[in-house]
Amino acid sequence: MSVRRSRVVGCGGYLPQRVVTNDELAEKLDTSDSWIVARTGIRERRIAADGEYTSDLAREAGVAALESAGVSANDVDLIIVATSTPDQTFPSTATKVQAELGVTRGAAFDIQAVCAGFVFALSVADNFIRTESADRILVIGAETFSRILDWEDRSTSVLFGDGAGAVMLCAENGAGTPKDHGILATCLHSDGRLRDLLYVDGGVSTTQTAGHLRMVGREVFRHAVVRLSEVVGEVLRAAELDAGDVDWLVPHQANKRILDATARRIQLPLEKVIVTIDRHANTSAASIPLALAEAANDGRLKPDHVVLVEAMGGGFVWGAGVIRW
Ligand code: UT7
Repeated sequence: MSVRRSRVVGCGGYLPQRVVTNDELAEKLDTSDSWIVARTGIRERRIAADGEYTSDLAREAGVAALESAGVSANDVDLIIVATSTPDQTFPSTATKVQAELGVTRGAAFDIQAVCAGFVFALSVADNFIRTESADRILVIGAETFSRILDWEDRSTSVLFGDGAGAVMLCAENGAGTPKDHGILATCLHSDGRLRDLLYVDGGVSTTQTAGHLRMVGREVFRHAVVRLSEVVGEVLRAAELDAGDVDWLVPHQANKRILDATARRIQLPLEKVIVTIDRHANTSAASIPLALAEAANDGRLKPDHVVLVEAMGGGFVWGAGVIRW
């Protein structure tokens, strides 16, 4: 039976120029390079320049993905931007990106699922393609978390960075088997009872301010390892594959220890995990597409490879996807 699949035909990433090392943070905060590296795996992060907005990062990543796919902007039916740090409350960052890419047809909207935003956006895009509502979708994850950090809080400010990544999805007919190319399965979950463990203490309707990120790190860590292992198993079952079929795990980059623990739980060798956290830190919705772009463009991801993505973020929200490259 023929099934419409969403094939990844191009990837792109963009990082702001400014590199901020752990040592630079330690000049202003009671922290150290050795603590940050040992507890998180982070060595440096990029921080957006004054006047450089989430939409700027998103546009650059989008242009890179379009170029690598060989798709012209005006052939894009839908642009989805996953972000929790939009330029403005409205209009969406996606409509700004749409205009800046010169796209005058189709639709554009944002998705907000914090660090799981890219997986949620990928799942939504896949459903648009499966239901024949779109043929070509640009999915972008873009964030400027530096703008919502409390730079006096050492327990959160050392963890995040700014950046954007994008994938271009095109409809392709498959046979309906795990051998098809494209997105084979996605699984999404939320549990709003746990929203106070990771949140921003401001917002339009509550304080009329953007607020600052707050996190009970140890609790988030504990839940992340359990939930991510569960959802990875679930999505592999949905794709009719098992962990032994996975060529690459491309996880959300929140903490190197979480990456390692998730890989261990599914008995995946650590060499099969794409790691960018050392250089990017946690870029929230941008971390997976940035890692995909890096690994696709340096030749690690090859046609037919099975790529597993997973993420968890504030809400809590978590999800995973399986893509045959
Ligand atoms: O992307 C969304 C999902 N987010 C995550 O998945 C993040 C999950 N959480 C984590 O990655 C980890 O919990 C952290 C990296 C945030 C913290 O690591 P931890 O091993 O859980 O440390 P902790 O919070 O239990 O703190 C241990 C100690 C504390 O000191 P005391 O109370 O033991 O004296 C903290 O005050 O480390 C202290 N500490 C720091 N020390 C130096 C916390 N932050 C720092 C810091 N530098 N930056």
